Amino acid sequence: MALFMDSRLILRRVTDLRCLTPRRHRVKEKWAATRAKLPPTRLALQHFDATYGVQLGPLWPSVRVAMLSERKYGALLNNFSYDAVQADLQAQGCRDFISNRVEEEEEAQPHLEQKSEVEAQESSNDVSMKMFDGQQMNLSPNIKCLVFPRGDVTRFKSARPDTHGLLSYYLMDAASVLPCLALDVQEGHSVLDLCAAPGGKTLSLLQTQTIRFLCVNDMSVSRTRRLRKVLHSYVPKQFLTDENLRVTSFDGTKWGEIETNTFDRVLVDAPCTTDRHSLMEDDNNIFNKIRVGERRRLPQLQLDLLLAGIQAACPGGEILYSTCTLSQNQNQGVVEQAVCLARENHGIHLQAVSLRPLIRMFRNTFHFAPDLHLGEMVIPHLAANFGPIYMCKLKRLS
Ligand SMILES: C[S@@+](CC[C@H](N)C(=O)[O-])C[C@H]1O[C@@H](n2cnc3c(N)ncnc32)[C@H](O)[C@@H]1O
Repeated sequence: MALFMDSRLILRRVTDLRCLTPRRHRVKEKWAATRAKLPPTRLALQHFDATYGVQLGPLWPSVRVAMLSERKYGALLNNFSYDAVQADLQAQGCRDFISNRVEEEEEAQPHLEQKSEVEAQESSNDVSMKMFDGQQMNLSPNIKCLVFPRGDVTRFKSARPDTHGLLSYYLMDAASVLPCLALDVQEGHSVLDLCAAPGGKTLSLLQTQTIRFLCVNDMSVSRTRRLRKVLHSYVPKQFLTDENLRVTSFDGTKWGEIETNTFDRVLVDAPCTTDRHSLMEDDNNIFNKIRVGERRRLPQLQLDLLLAGIQAACPGGEILYSTCTLSQNQNQGVVEQAVCLARENHGIHLQAVSLRPLIRMFRNTFHFAPDLHLGEMVIPHLAANFGPIYMCKLKRLS
């Protein structure tokens, strides 16, 4: 009987304890196989909330809303096409954001003013990397990209082939044209586009019609095939000869072993977390659990690509590093490390070239992140839902 009483007492105590334990701690964990999995887009959002919430502070909520909304496109006009579509597009309300830029003489907004050289040096981790702001931006008059006005989210129709089978415009994030403008390609230049597929920036560079030799590369064979298709849909055959164009599928990180000190201009449009895609599409999403390793290795891959691009440029040549992520680790962090390693391991000295003149010109079309100590970044905004695009320009001094 005593034993019976004791066990009843114990049972009641256990029951009392259970009442004190919050319910969620009493429920057994589900087996991994049956637990509801978060889709990669949700994982991306959680990651961005945690990192960009800190990085962008009060700017993040509005950037977040924009990134979760439909993005805006621009129509890059194809100068090689026989169809004159510019007037048609203008009749629909579009304008070429490049020729409609704010002229330099117009009063610059105080918050967009260039930091002094000393300030730029102080805020950079690498004290030897000076900001070079003395350079006038020469924008190619041949690159034209039409956009609908701020707040107007009208979609472009797909371009149709002209009588020669060439398409009259290429739809892309209009902010993706900025790295090509910033690269400042001039008559007779040789240019390397190290990560080129599917080819939006290659096409923009070709529009300048000043390049003597263009080398386009992408490690992915299938994406290089897509790039070739794009080239054939936009550029007449006579411009796609071996003398002026080379298309390759090499691992760009190994470029230093193939060709060094060669190109006047190098574009390193690096693979990244492609923030918008990661938020909107579960297919081919780098936040998929099985791609965690690949995602974590991105900054190293970006660094290796940028270093290879730096080595491929000739002394005096210029390198443009760009991504479509807001991530500081993948942007400024990569550039800072590349500048140090280029000097330490290869004796190459670099100077960051200020892109402030460019952002002053295009402040009516894009929203730019304020006060980046290195490079510039278009940040998405509901009224101008382009980007994110980060870009940083380096000049090889030796
Ligand atoms: C941001 S996308 C380039 C977009 C392209 N510049 C455009 O404007 O259409 C990055 C590209 O880098 C390529 N890539 C990834 N790793 C690479 C590597 N090690 N070497 C060269 N290309 C690489 C990917 O296949 C991808 O096409």
